[in-house]
Amino acid sequence: MSPRVLITEPVIPSVIDMLEEHFDVDVGERGTYNSEQALLEDIPRYDALMPMLSNPVTGKVIQAGEKLQIIANHAVGYNNIDTEAAGSRQVYVANTPGVLSDSCAEFTLALMLAVGRRLYEARRYLLGGNFDGWDPLGFLGMELQGSTLGIVGLGRIGQAVATRARALGMDIIYHNRSRLAPGKEERLGAEYCPDVATLARRADILSLHCPLTEETTHLIDESIFDLMGEEAILINTSRGPVVDEAALARALHEGVIGGAGIDVFEHEPKVHPELKTAPRCLLTPHIASASHKTREAIGLLAANAITGILQGKSPSEIPNLIQP
Ligand code: GLV
Repeated sequence: MSPRVLITEPVIPSVIDMLEEHFDVDVGERGTYNSEQALLEDIPRYDALMPMLSNPVTGKVIQAGEKLQIIANHAVGYNNIDTEAAGSRQVYVANTPGVLSDSCAEFTLALMLAVGRRLYEARRYLLGGNFDGWDPLGFLGMELQGSTLGIVGLGRIGQAVATRARALGMDIIYHNRSRLAPGKEERLGAEYCPDVATLARRADILSLHCPLTEETTHLIDESIFDLMGEEAILINTSRGPVVDEAALARALHEGVIGGAGIDVFEHEPKVHPELKTAPRCLLTPHIASASHKTREAIGLLAANAITGILQGKSPSEIPNLIQP
């Protein structure tokens, strides 16, 4: 009997085709596995799991996966997986680094430009029938040229953002768990700041590209908003809980900061009701990696790890394994 693979939601068809060449593949209906209970019931049947970032692959789920050999997340962030539990059961975990950096960086720039130049409000104004002719004071926004971008987390995606922002004439400052080598800082034209508070004080736009961990949960809170200028913009394409969403909604409503472009939310798919009504705030439904090309590359990279492990390849030949 072929090993069995569960892909928890429909993904780009070539990814499913690739796995079906070798394995018995089931594809879940969209949203079915957003609960631990659904995973707990079905996981005992599978040798490999390709979960989405919205699926809670908890310690209990991993424990129940008696045959489970690998969990290959259909995402680069893997905060939805209890990696410690997987490690202690010798279950491999893979993610998808590299293939989505360009797509996420382009989307981050799109949010920066859209919020900076107030595109969304301007569109609503025009469609609302309010455009009564060119206005010398209408929709004054922030130019990226000459502005300072503060990047929290200068990994692959952060660096792809930095390169593009430099091309648009921005000054780049950053904070990262570990400082980059001087040569790399120089190539990126990025200046290191010792903490996020310094970054917040100096940046016109603060953009988040760090993983979600205990240390980064609510890293951006009221105290950070108080340091940002009243014109400053927050962009979040990382993970929702990095930002205290209620505090962000307050900061926008009270004019403590100037705007926000937010693609990820603290309790997805819920969005804080006051964020929905906040001024100069562009909200998108977690789509920074959503180009056909990138979503296919994400799926194929995850599928490749599954194929490798189930076919007995040496883990050292599978570069996107996180552990064991
Ligand atoms: C998307 O958010 C990802 O982590 O791949």
